[in-house]
Amino acid sequence: MKIAFIDLKKQFSVLEKDIRAAIDGVLAHGQFIMGPEIGRLEEELARFAGARQAVACASGTDALLLPLMAWGVGPGDAVFTSPFTFIATAEVISLLGATPVFVDIDPKTYNIDPEQLRAAVEKTTREGRLRPKAVIPVDLFGLPADYEPIMALAEEKGLLVLEDAAQSFGALYRGRRAGALGHVGATSFFPAKPLGCYGDGGAVLTDDDHLAGLMRSIRVHGQGSHKYENVRLGLNARLDTLQAAILLAKLAAFPDELEQRQRVAARYTQGLNSRVQTPHIPEGSTSAWAQYSILTDRREEVQAALKTAGIPTAVYYPLPLHLQGAFADFGYAQGDFPVAEATAGRIFSLPMHPYLEDETIDFIVARIIEAVDSI
Ligand SMILES: Cc1ncc(COP(=O)(O)O)c(C=O)c1O
Repeated sequence: MKIAFIDLKKQFSVLEKDIRAAIDGVLAHGQFIMGPEIGRLEEELARFAGARQAVACASGTDALLLPLMAWGVGPGDAVFTSPFTFIATAEVISLLGATPVFVDIDPKTYNIDPEQLRAAVEKTTREGRLRPKAVIPVDLFGLPADYEPIMALAEEKGLLVLEDAAQSFGALYRGRRAGALGHVGATSFFPAKPLGCYGDGGAVLTDDDHLAGLMRSIRVHGQGSHKYENVRLGLNARLDTLQAAILLAKLAAFPDELEQRQRVAARYTQGLNSRVQTPHIPEGSTSAWAQYSILTDRREEVQAALKTAGIPTAVYYPLPLHLQGAFADFGYAQGDFPVAEATAGRIFSLPMHPYLEDETIDFIVARIIEAVDSI
């Protein structure tokens, strides 16, 4: 049995007709840059997420950068985020000259701990060296962070909230869609994401029309009212029309795929929760299941046994960001964020995609149980 970690070939075989037709449409009209599919995709993304505006862009990283630039985040600003995430979340803060301030995670959800966030904001204010400016909660593995206390804190302290929804597009938090849970949400269409294109892509979601206008300008070199008027510094951060067309075809299948992801996750959890720590989904939330991750003290042995059985696994993330060389200047040390560090040492992710069949899931579950019980 050949098991894929994420089976994009299978998805293509199911959606091939629609995807090829979408690509052919772009080849026929030839508007490869900012063609009509971009506007259509933005409308559909905004409607899906329940936001007023969607701004399509070139990657999830640009989707984080655009709102931070539009808000004028820069030197002297503290931006609070999780150390247990992909580098891009904190990289964009440093790229703009602002300072990432890491806050430890909740041991059950692996998302930023709202109480420790409050403590970190108050400590930063007391120290007086940096201005608390924004928070980037990350919806890790597809599960939204706990936005109710985060937004209440943001209101109280005057902080801007940028939801890193790169992994969570399609998830729910108390009846609302991921991407629309902060002041702004950033998502990624990297091929392996729950909604992925065939290259790099991303989008920003917001109810703030003024901010959306600024981000549309920054997306194209700070464009003003015409192509060669530049009213601010910006980026080349456009989404390709071809990718927008592919996403429109995939978006039509996305609600069904999300249901299938729930089926896969539920079957894994039912099979595994007596042996390993399975994902905790708080009441009122759903995950988009970008990853299905489990915790065990004997990760290396279990991963090796699965590899022998032809089951691919991956570790997200082996080293928390505060211990990465890229952030060495900030002086963090081992022990600063014990929950993130302990989680990084024990976690790994299993094959997860909507086309994973029940018998394959049962095979994977059986091999994990065998491995855990034999150690
Ligand atoms: C949490 C998180 N933030 C940001 C990104 C950046 O997205 P991209 O790779 O599309 O730039 C990713 C994905 O890779 C991610 O997982």
